[in-house]
Amino acid sequence: MQSNTFSGLFEGQNVITLQQVDSTNEYLKKELSKSRPLTEGTVILAVHQFAGRGQQGATWFSEPGRNLTFSLLLMPTFLNPKHQFRLTVAISLAIARWLEQLLSVGVKIKWPNDIYVGDRKIGGVLIENILKGKAWKSAIVGIGINVNQTDFPAAIRRRITSIKDYLREDSDIGELLTALCRSIEREYLALKQGQTEAQLASYKQRLYRLGERHPFLVSGVKVDGILLDITETGRLQIDFGGHVADFDIKEVAFVI
Ligand code: BTN
Repeated sequence: MQSNTFSGLFEGQNVITLQQVDSTNEYLKKELSKSRPLTEGTVILAVHQFAGRGQQGATWFSEPGRNLTFSLLLMPTFLNPKHQFRLTVAISLAIARWLEQLLSVGVKIKWPNDIYVGDRKIGGVLIENILKGKAWKSAIVGIGINVNQTDFPAAIRRRITSIKDYLREDSDIGELLTALCRSIEREYLALKQGQTEAQLASYKQRLYRLGERHPFLVSGVKVDGILLDITETGRLQIDFGGHVADFDIKEVAFVI
């Protein structure tokens, strides 16, 4: 099913709803490799995503028909690929601002782009960049938000939440998608206009555990540290009792 929902940048662009798909990111990637060109702003929305992918090779589980699982095609050709983190910032911020308005609560961003309310994850982002030589060609922005699901595996229930946990009623997935894409469009345009510093500052304001002492997993070893900052290239900076080091996503993990 196809429909046109957005205004402005994404005006007239497609929302393609799939009843069943392994992963909307994979689907969009395959479509991009075909000769038929897809336009920026195309959204692939899954009703039932049965093999959703998360960061670091994880799996993203979602009850059929109850959550937002979609991928958005962007073409941030205006950004140098060495500034990929700026897109992560813009997208995380767009989700956080949209949720804050919807739920009337503070939203946190767990570096680099997990979306948290309190100590619980409500959504996640998987951005896959497609580069052509040294230039950026396109970005597949996969987003999963827990919406109407309240039943989660016991082992993770205390670390997971959903929109329904806050609104106490079911939400319309289509309406949420439209509002979230508007928020993404706003931040994406701001990024295009070069408002990177302001976006990074707003991102850091919401940074989960900023300035707090917590254990981190470094090379399989649990070490206490204070989350100090994020570098310009998006590395996590931690102070281990006076020794400051920075890490990329594969090198460090939060202990939640
Ligand atoms: C994470 O937190 O690990 C990232 C989760 C990203 C999940 C979304 S759901 C839609 C899109 N398709 C996928 O296969 N993954 C992303």
